[in-house]
Amino acid sequence: MPATIVVGAQWGDEGKGRATDWFAREADYVVRYQGGNNAGHTILVGDERFALSLIPSGVMYPDCTPVIASGCVVDPEVLLAEIEMLSSRGIDPGKLKLSANAHLIMPYHRKLDRVMERYLGRNQIGTTKKGIGPAYTDKYARRGVRVQDLFDPKIFRDKVEAALEDVNKVLTRVYNQLPMDPDEVIDHYLGMADRLVPYVCDTSLLLWEALRRGDEVLFEGAQGTLLDVDHGTYPFVTSSNPTAGGALVGSGVGPREIGRVVGVAKAYISRVGTGPFPTELHDEVGDKLVELGGEFGTVTGRRRRCGWLDLVALRYSVRINSMSHLFLTKLDVLSAFETVKVATGYVSLGEVYEEFPRQQRVLYNCTPVYRELPGWRQDITGCRSFSELPKQAQAYVEFIEEYTGVPVAWVSVGPEREQMLQR
Ligand code: GDP
Ligand code: IMO
Ligand code: MG
Repeated sequence: MPATIVVGAQWGDEGKGRATDWFAREADYVVRYQGGNNAGHTILVGDERFALSLIPSGVMYPDCTPVIASGCVVDPEVLLAEIEMLSSRGIDPGKLKLSANAHLIMPYHRKLDRVMERYLGRNQIGTTKKGIGPAYTDKYARRGVRVQDLFDPKIFRDKVEAALEDVNKVLTRVYNQLPMDPDEVIDHYLGMADRLVPYVCDTSLLLWEALRRGDEVLFEGAQGTLLDVDHGTYPFVTSSNPTAGGALVGSGVGPREIGRVVGVAKAYISRVGTGPFPTELHDEVGDKLVELGGEFGTVTGRRRRCGWLDLVALRYSVRINSMSHLFLTKLDVLSAFETVKVATGYVSLGEVYEEFPRQQRVLYNCTPVYRELPGWRQDITGCRSFSELPKQAQAYVEFIEEYTGVPVAWVSVGPEREQMLQR
């Protein structure tokens, strides 16, 4: 059975967790392939709300194996706390698999993330301060510490000491901070090794064997296409590749295994942190989207910036990921509006852009070209099929399909598991 990639089509928080939860009913494996606990994926099961930061959403189903693959950065303390949290709420994470190659987020990564952001002042990225950027920096500088190093105390000690020798110079001389004690860091981390060892394996081999057996494998992206370090609004991005290509690199699975690439997009758009955002609304419509959509960060609680759906960006996202389908979320939030707008182009200095501009400067000083579509002004949270939707809502979805050239195969009309329609 070819695998499915679920990828964020916007700036994150599109509803990937709930979309993954929908597909995971039938999946044997759900794989996180990049990012770390900067992600916050919300799943509603009855009256219960689960916010997962690291463990793949498939953990909710006892028959599904959640996998944290090599491309992720793992804060072991956070992982153990999440395992604990799930166990205490009756979910068994015992099947979890953790790649031996995944890099560890160290205490000095978290510290660096905090002080670097503070230092940037007005130019800050607005990171989640979880140490993601510094952990990936060390990975690519080839002085990172991996999960497997935890099981070789001598190597672990050597690596941490070497890394801290550099980091402490930076902390003290550049950022005016106290140095960190290597022994404290090493003892704390080695003390967690025993609890992690049952989960550690060669996740690429595991997935290879699963795919050979014909098992269903689902890849769960974190963040979104516009936060991709290569294809997003750099430098206001995360430090990994959330895009579909990242699923392959991050999990050690080749492109011929993939059957579907499902892009998850909100019926409008949001962004947390700084960076350009052409359709951002600073008016009461923006406030209403925040209020009705409950647009506050799952991880940091920050208010998300909101705006009308940006079809220029969405079409770009379809291309970058070679999406086969779209999964549209939060259509119910738009029910409150008399008319709904979508951006089909940008105008900057008299020039019209219908493709995502090559020069990022354009994104800062452009005016979106909007198409205004009739609203539906009725509650759609009870609709369970496309034909039950008011015809204006159907037309809205069809407009997105037409513009992007990709079928919107799933639409969600509320946060609950069953508030879904499949076409
Ligand atoms: P993720 O990071 O992409 O998984 O998205 P988040 O979980 O951070 O944010 C999505 C939020 O929207 C969560 O609070 C979900 O419960 C909620 N949500 C998802 N789908 C829908 C929907 O169709 N309608 C409404 N009203 N809320 C939704
Ligand atoms: P999910 O998976 C939305 C944003 C941060 C910041 C930038 C860099 O829930 O969609 P980082 O801590 O990664 O170095 O921050 O990326 N960001 C997210 N925004 N959803 C996320 O994850 C995000 N993860 C990171 O706000 O702008
Ligand atoms: Mg989120």
